[in-house]
Amino acid sequence: MRSVVKGVGGYLPDRIVTNQDLAQIVDTSDEWITARTGIRERRIAADGELTSAMGLAAAKAALADAGLEPGEIDLIVLATSTPDQTFPATAVTIQAELGITDGAAFDVQAVCSGFVFAMSTADNYLKSGQFKRALVIGAEAFSRILDWEDRATCVLFGDGAGAWVLEAERLNGTMADRGILATSLRSDGRYRDKLYVDGGPSSTGTVGHLRMDGPEVFRHAVTKISQVIGETLDKAGYTASDIDWFVPHQANKRILDGAARKLGLDPERVVMTVEKHANTSAASIPLALMTACSDGRIKKGDLVLLEAMGGGFTWGALLIRW
Ligand code: ACO
Repeated sequence: MRSVVKGVGGYLPDRIVTNQDLAQIVDTSDEWITARTGIRERRIAADGELTSAMGLAAAKAALADAGLEPGEIDLIVLATSTPDQTFPATAVTIQAELGITDGAAFDVQAVCSGFVFAMSTADNYLKSGQFKRALVIGAEAFSRILDWEDRATCVLFGDGAGAWVLEAERLNGTMADRGILATSLRSDGRYRDKLYVDGGPSSTGTVGHLRMDGPEVFRHAVTKISQVIGETLDKAGYTASDIDWFVPHQANKRILDGAARKLGLDPERVVMTVEKHANTSAASIPLALMTACSDGRIKKGDLVLLEAMGGGFTWGALLIRW
């Protein structure tokens, strides 16, 4: 059994906040942000625009792309670190809004690696035969957990959502090399104080704000990403030169350039949306992928590699034949 992608969708809030806009509220500049990160602008959710609403919009777009009705979905896995509420899971709000009353819906929390973790989770359920069709969503409202007085972090993130529809298919013969071919997930909690939110229900009782040791995150990112990519390619019997499209988590252009260089990938093969979206955490991979599908870059039969690293640390990669 293989998990095959049937549809993709995304949603970005209307409000664009440029680097120049941020320079009005913190001591920063377009030059500093662009040179260090490659980011020029980000989308910020409107007041009252919830993670569930963004996830729902992306889910509806993915279902339309797949030509499926909500009732045909029996599993929803939502990756988010910015849920609407502590509980219930934001996935069940999306499930209810879609009018689905059967199957299962739950959230996965692996910060920026969330989409890769959610995809791998859904993939294993589909391969085991427990569910038939899954909506995998990454949705984030990071603007709500940023300290808008901390220039070192508030310039890096944005809001948005992306979704994929996966279906379990029995593939054989020449079709066997399709769908999700390999996934690898990792975490190492010794680094949990390098990127975290300083609040939570059992500690402060408040939502808290994102805190980050930027240079430490940077130091670990390229090495960890490269290791997990190598392991994922090995599992599927491919090498970096076989990759048609590299769709990394959009954290920072310098990290992505470093990982691509280490892998020996042609920069033309790297899908980069960080300039316009900034870091949308668990939403960044499906949003980047949707961009490369809608502009015609990613086509059926292409070998696509996803990777991410985030708070925890968590990191992972996923190889898929489109
Ligand atoms: N504007 C202007 N100056 C700034 C800003 C800003 N927005 N932010 C920090 N600075 C200043 C600092 O105060 C410091 O000044 P000082 O030398 O006078 O003390 C100086 O710039 C250098 O600060 P550093 O933190 O050392 O800057 P660095 O070159 O490491 O760049 C950055 C910071 C961009 C955050 C980098 O460390 C990085 O990209 N880290 C990875 C973090 C990341 O991508 N996190 C995303 C989440 S994890 C993930 O998704 C992989």
